[in-house]
Amino acid sequence: MKITQKFNGVYEIDGNVATENLNKGIKVYGERLMEIEGKEYRIWDPRRSKLAAAILNGLETFPFKEDSKVLYLGASAGTTPSHISDISKKGLIYCVEFSPRMMRKLADLSRERKNLIPILDNATKPKNYMNLLQKVDVIYSDVAQPNQSELFMDNMRLYSKKDGIGILMIKARSIDVTKAPNKIFKEEESKLKTHGFRVIEKVKLEPYEKDHMAFVCEFSF
Ligand SMILES: C[S@@+](CC[C@H](N)C(=O)[O-])C[C@H]1O[C@@H](n2cnc3c(N)ncnc32)[C@H](O)[C@@H]1O
Repeated sequence: MKITQKFNGVYEIDGNVATENLNKGIKVYGERLMEIEGKEYRIWDPRRSKLAAAILNGLETFPFKEDSKVLYLGASAGTTPSHISDISKKGLIYCVEFSPRMMRKLADLSRERKNLIPILDNATKPKNYMNLLQKVDVIYSDVAQPNQSELFMDNMRLYSKKDGIGILMIKARSIDVTKAPNKIFKEEESKLKTHGFRVIEKVKLEPYEKDHMAFVCEFSF
C-alpha cells in the first residue's frame, strides 16, 4: 500500500485522500478506516465532501495548518469539518450551522472532537457570533444558498486575518437553476473581484459534484 503526504495533514493512499484520525477507532460518517504503520487514517470521500473533491481535482492552495483557526459556514452534521479537525488538530474550527437538526449531530461530534466549536446561528448575520470568535486564518463556506457569495464576503470582511484565505464552494443551481452554470461562475467571480477579493484559484468539482466550483480567494484590506 502506497502512502504519500499531499498537504500538511492530508495523505494519498492508493489514489484516495485521507486524514489521520484524531479520534482513533471512531468513524464520523461511515468512512473507511485504514491502519498503516501504527497510524489510523480516515479515507476522505469526495462524494461527501467538496474539499476532498477539490483536492482530487488538483487544488494547489491548501491553507489549513496544524494550528489554524477556521471559520466554517454551513457545517451541517460535520462531515468536512471532521477532516479539518484531523488536519488542524491543535487549532479551532468554529462551525456555523442554522439547522437545529444538523446542529444536534454536530454538537455530538464536538463532544468527541474538542477542536470543533458548534455555533447555532445564521451565517448571513455574522455579527451575531462576534463574541464567540476572533479573526481566523481560513474561512470555508459551503451553504448552497442563493446568497452564498454575499454571506461569504460579509464573513471574510469581519473575520479574516490580513493574510487569511477564503474557500467558497459555489453551487450554481442554488443561485439560478435556469442559467448555465459557467455563466453563474463568471458572475460570482466578478462579484468577488468588484468587492475587493483576489481570486487565487478555481477548481471544478465534477465528477464528484455536478455544477459546483471551488473559489480560493483573499480579501484585499
Ligand atoms: C451543502 S450542506 C454543507 C455540507 C458540509 N459543508 C460538509 O461538507 O460536511 C449546506 C449546509 O449549510 C447550512 N446553511 C445554509 N444556509 C445557512 C446559513 N445562512 N447559515 C448557517 N447555515 C446555513 C444548511 O443547513 C446545510 O446544513
